[in-house]
Amino acid sequence: MNKSDHLRSYWMPFTNNRAFKKNPKLFASAKGVYYQTPRGRMILDGTSGMWCCNAGHGRTRIVEAIQKAAAVLDYAPGFQLGHPAAFEAANRLLNIAPDGFGHVFFTNSGSESVDTALKIARAYQQMRGQKRRSVLVGRERDYHGAGFGGISVGGITSNQQYFGPLLPQTDHLRHTHDLSRNAFTKGLPDHGTEFADDLNRLVERHGAKAIAAVIVEPIAGSTGGLIPPAGYLRRLREICDEHDILLIFDEVITGFGRLGAPFAADFFGVMPDMITLAKGLTSGTVPMGAVLVNDKIHDAFMKGPEHGIEFMHGYTTSGHPLACAAMIATLQTYEKEDLFAQVNELSPYWEQALHSLQELPHIIDIRNLGLIGAIELEPRRNASGSRGQDAFNECFEHNLLIRVTGDTIALSPPFIITIEQIDKMIDRLRSVLKNLD
Ligand SMILES: Cc1ncc(COP(=O)(O)O)c(C=O)c1O
Repeated sequence: MNKSDHLRSYWMPFTNNRAFKKNPKLFASAKGVYYQTPRGRMILDGTSGMWCCNAGHGRTRIVEAIQKAAAVLDYAPGFQLGHPAAFEAANRLLNIAPDGFGHVFFTNSGSESVDTALKIARAYQQMRGQKRRSVLVGRERDYHGAGFGGISVGGITSNQQYFGPLLPQTDHLRHTHDLSRNAFTKGLPDHGTEFADDLNRLVERHGAKAIAAVIVEPIAGSTGGLIPPAGYLRRLREICDEHDILLIFDEVITGFGRLGAPFAADFFGVMPDMITLAKGLTSGTVPMGAVLVNDKIHDAFMKGPEHGIEFMHGYTTSGHPLACAAMIATLQTYEKEDLFAQVNELSPYWEQALHSLQELPHIIDIRNLGLIGAIELEPRRNASGSRGQDAFNECFEHNLLIRVTGDTIALSPPFIITIEQIDKMIDRLRSVLKNLD
């Protein structure tokens, strides 16, 4: 079997498979803020893997917890049966959840968390007698995973192409990205609170009692770290309240300290009715997702005869013992090392370091919040995305892992990154960007 044969079987997700297999980029191990390639090159992780490894890589406490759990209880059925770690994991998660979130439903990924939350939203409306409330509203440029529910409410058209018909009864708010007024803002953009009023347009279109829920990412990560205008999320909450619509925050990337608070809901002081989670929940070590549900919604399900299943939904590996062990150890790591506070300490330095790149060629925006940064490059004429792809490849050659979405570079390093490592990252970016045509 020659080298390319060896790579042929695995159909890789969200990857240009043919190009990758001609020039593969592989990781063999990881420790701290570095990946190591099979040839021993150390690659600085500017993206926490994929917004996952908030605590950094190869953390002993988490590794040992997983090893131990695997040896004790490999699997326990989760329907009509349980195991102690699942209950402990749920309790520990709720200890850091905002007030009012009394319940958690476990899944295995962000996509499953989103589909679970959408199903809860529709079922909740039916259970409280609002049978006409079925419309699910997402927002342009938001990513909510790859399931049919997620791509239907998601606002990335390339993820929808070829897969229709999508889920009926969905609609989209306009996105909040406004470079004409907000380019190079540090922190929250000043302009655009009024974009939230777009929900009124959808209320008018569908009728006041037709919308079940609105789902948004507090910060749209996958389409390039789009930071919400100041006051936007609060306004959205108010309009939802006016029309008795549920609000769901998809915190798959903002959850677990990325903004220096446990959740974006805490950071913005805006409480949704449900929060979808994954990634940082186990610092990326074992697949796991969760939906935080407020008491009002949960309690609406807990009616009817006790022998009946209240919510006909779940996954074979919901609350898997390994995932629960990883999650408990991850939450302990965040707490014992005060890693969310670390984000608050680093973020002013991070902000000025990122914005120091402003004068380099082709940059049309730099934005940041918490330990998130994005650098938007001007697309090449007739070759949108190619400049971003070149930046990604060149950074990899310079031993730096970044993410690109179109022509935007998105950065989200592990919380254990040091000032010196931030400097290293910015130096490598600078070398790449100043030579990019
Ligand atoms: C906001 C958001 N929601 C959902 C998902 C989907 O998560 P997963 O890939 O674990 O299914 C992602 C993944 O990037 C995400 O960023």
